[in-house]
Amino acid sequence: MNAAMKTATLRDCEGSDFSGIFSLWAAVGMLSPERGDNAETIRKTIAHGGRLLVYKESHQVIGSVWITNDTRRLYLHHLAVHPDWQKQGLGRRLFNEALAIAKDLGMQLKLEVHQDNVPARKLYDSSMTVLEGYVVYQRRI
Ligand SMILES: CC(C)(COP(=O)(O)OP(=O)(O)OC[C@H]1O[C@@H](n2cnc3c(N)ncnc32)[C@H](O)[C@@H]1OP(=O)(O)O)[C@@H](O)C(=O)NCCC(=O)NCCS
Repeated sequence: MNAAMKTATLRDCEGSDFSGIFSLWAAVGMLSPERGDNAETIRKTIAHGGRLLVYKESHQVIGSVWITNDTRRLYLHHLAVHPDWQKQGLGRRLFNEALAIAKDLGMQLKLEVHQDNVPARKLYDSSMTVLEGYVVYQRRI
């Protein structure tokens, strides 16, 4: 076990973690408050059976994985590890927790990832199946 795995703690987020979560998402370039990356949306998704897990090292949020629950499926969002802490196994640990949550609930887990995101795809390829032939549509508001 490496140093980060020994000292960092993994748990469900609390309200006091939100600013650290947003700093982490900004650090990895995935923070979009206008698209729901905000405290109100996080709270709503948790009230509807979602989870947002954080890895904390001292007082810093260094990792996150957010699962939303539409009652038919779970969706994984914002799996992130701070650049200073990447490549130490934390991303895999967060992803494994998401898989364990899905297994416990008996629900399928879906996610979208950019085709060029090699680190994330390597992680997902180890335990998930690509839905060949599908494209993703959305209507922006
Ligand atoms: C994807 C991400 C969460 C991985 O976190 P991490 O803590 O570095 O990942 P781990 O150390 O647990 O490694 C997980 C796997 O990814 C692979 N990996 C990690 N970084 C990699 C890189 N730069 N290139 C290729 N593979 C990489 C590792 O080799 C490992 O596979 P292995 O266990 O078979 O060796 C991290 O790179 C990240 O936060 N990226 C920015 C945010 C992002 O794109 N999230 C995904 C959105 S869908």
